[in-house]
Amino acid sequence: MAASASRGRRGGSADRVPGHVAIIMDGNGRWANARGLRRNAGHEAGEEALFRSVEGALALGVRDLTVYAFSTENWRRSPEEVRFLLEFNRSLLLRRVDELIDRDVRVRFIGRRARPVPGRLIALMERTEERTAHCSRMTLRIAFNYGSRSELVDAARRAAEDVASGALRRIDARSLAARLDDPAMPDVDLLIRTSGEQRVSNFLLWQAAYAELVFTDVLWPDFDEAELARCVAVYAARDRRFGGAQDRPSSAEPEA
Ligand code: IPE
Ligand code: IPE
Ligand code: MG
Repeated sequence: MAASASRGRRGGSADRVPGHVAIIMDGNGRWANARGLRRNAGHEAGEEALFRSVEGALALGVRDLTVYAFSTENWRRSPEEVRFLLEFNRSLLLRRVDELIDRDVRVRFIGRRARPVPGRLIALMERTEERTAHCSRMTLRIAFNYGSRSELVDAARRAAEDVASGALRRIDARSLAARLDDPAMPDVDLLIRTSGEQRVSNFLLWQAAYAELVFTDVLWPDFDEAELARCVAVYAARDRRFGGAQDRPSSAEPEA
């Protein structure tokens, strides 16, 4: 990180503002444990961190913000925690969508909309998408019952069906991408994970193929606009090459 930051000060090649920021919101349980609270209190505290991130992203001019709210693997948690997370997310949508509309933020969901996700949560997701469909300043995508592998399996199945029916000639990167959960979703520029964990946990494996990864030790309930801005500054100093050659010598190399 230090090397790329110093190179960045000489002019990182990343646009200063990432168009699409994705966040793995992690560390709620540890935040609560450290305070002698139950894990669910950490999830509750994460709500404000999410809204601070929306404010921060809007202030920076980010166009797409995607957050990981519940993974296909999170069903492995205790029934109490799973039940809490389902109900908490439903109540959050009920209570706070008006604020997002006020800020001109469109909401979309990615992930499998099927059991065991309760029908009334799926209905609320659909209503939220409809109610915010006219908003255009930023798109907030919430990954719920999301796993990249199931998304890719579903996309591959749809493509194969379309080939069989004659609707599609051949499967390539473009036709597969067009069958992901939200084909309008652009590639991820900056992927942030909080809480010090350095893994991707089945999040946006296709869309983040060339994302810059930034890991922060901050636990999700403590994440705020300033920490988002710091992550964006780290991103802005990176040299994105997309497989091409570096266009200038790094500070470690002698000047030509
Ligand atoms: C992230 O925090 C929230 C979800 C995965 C739903 P965690 O609940 O994973 O918190 P830790 O990792 O146990 O601290
Ligand atoms: C990833 O966090 C999923 C979400 C943030 C919703 P986890 O806490 O579930 O991931 P692992 O199990 O530590 O990889
Ligand atoms: Mg975790």
